[in-house]
Amino acid sequence: MAEPEKVDMEKIVSLCRRRGFIFPSSEIYGGLSSCWDYGPLGVELKRNVKDAWWRAIVQKRDDTVGLDTSILMHPRTWEASGHVEGFSDPLVECKSCHLRWRADELGDDKCPTCGGELTEPRLFNLMFKTFMGPVEEEANTVYLRPETAQGIFVNFQNVVNTTRKKLPFGIAQIGKAFRNEITTGNFIFRSREFEQMELEFFVKPGSDGGWFDYWLGERLNWYVNLGIKRENLQLRPHTEEELAHYARACSDIDYLFPMGWSELEGIANRGDFDLAQHAKYSGKNLDYFDDETKEHFLPCIIEPSAGVDRSVLAFLCDAYAEEPDKDEIRVVLHLHPTLAPIKVALLPLSRKENLAKLAKEIHADLRQCWEAQYDDAQSIGRRYRRQDEIGTPFCVTVDFQSLEDEQVTIRERDSMKQIRIPIAELKTVLAAKLSGERFDSQSLWTANG
Ligand code: GAP
Repeated sequence: MAEPEKVDMEKIVSLCRRRGFIFPSSEIYGGLSSCWDYGPLGVELKRNVKDAWWRAIVQKRDDTVGLDTSILMHPRTWEASGHVEGFSDPLVECKSCHLRWRADELGDDKCPTCGGELTEPRLFNLMFKTFMGPVEEEANTVYLRPETAQGIFVNFQNVVNTTRKKLPFGIAQIGKAFRNEITTGNFIFRSREFEQMELEFFVKPGSDGGWFDYWLGERLNWYVNLGIKRENLQLRPHTEEELAHYARACSDIDYLFPMGWSELEGIANRGDFDLAQHAKYSGKNLDYFDDETKEHFLPCIIEPSAGVDRSVLAFLCDAYAEEPDKDEIRVVLHLHPTLAPIKVALLPLSRKENLAKLAKEIHADLRQCWEAQYDDAQSIGRRYRRQDEIGTPFCVTVDFQSLEDEQVTIRERDSMKQIRIPIAELKTVLAAKLSGERFDSQSLWTANG
């Protein structure tokens, strides 16, 4: 079967920069390698991605709860989790130019930059270290968390005791994670500071295989329901050799990014590894007591772990299109309305006072419900293009006729079709269209021609 078409990363990076989605971090100082700042549109998009995940994983289910734990944790956490011992990559250094490389990513034994001789590989821990308090000594070392998951595991008993949740149930968290990655790049795909959306789903031992399959399906559907083309997603089970030390099974959801198929999310069956380790290192009993069977045991954990930034990148890549429009090419982001940073743009046909007054009133009213932009600069065609390029699903045009008949035109981004509706019905109609009603369905208003 032919491989689906990939979008060019340069085009995504350029659009993100040009329209204020994503900028290099501390750019006026020349930027900081593989750190990124989300601009006014990027922050809306990213919030929408996180909100959609939170809605699906926490708010729409009654078998999950949320948590927001601190980035700095007791250093023993990372001994128990295996990160102090094992969260490292093999690194070689060039004896001439002193650049460092990941040994497992080099094709031969020469420095890719200068051809110099390389040292033997040494293990390099990927956790960022810092010191707690004013004294910089080994005893005060703390780490910036490399994953949000451990904050959930160490609070397992707190959640059981305070919520009286019964198995199976999940604890979810969204937050920053930090990894001193050696090889970064591909824009926001791999950075040193990023955000994760993680669910730890606790189940009875023996039922873990079934729950693992269940979460694979749920998570794949989440991306598809938010508009990612199914042919651009694939499940990739890990081989025995690839499995992390804590995992009984793991499958990645891979997306066809511009650089090729790469991991978007990992779904792991972690068994009882984490609770057993934290029980051992903390000396606390983390057993779950089953009221029905009167048994004490450690639950198994199924973990769907997604990257916020990778999801943002996947949604952007999948939505990006260049389409012929008359004699030109229009750039359009076909973002799902739930994710679009701006839901509706208000475009008065002229800046004339009476028209602007009406358009501003409508804009003020729409803002109470949605992120709405007002744009009166340049021709209407250019304004439509600007909104297409940032993924705004609907534009509302106010013209001189609107002053007479109290109607406005709504134009849809994807089909570029237009409908004319009474201003009094605008919010109801937009609400229906934003939640998926067909654009040319006329159930809610009286069409005008
Ligand atoms: N708790 C399990 C865990 O952290 P992981 O596969 O190392 O598993 C989960 O990370 C997800 O976090 C990845 O699928 C990816 O989306 C995201 N992620 C990991 N490292 C990243 C990085 N350096 N930059 C951006 N996202 C990253």
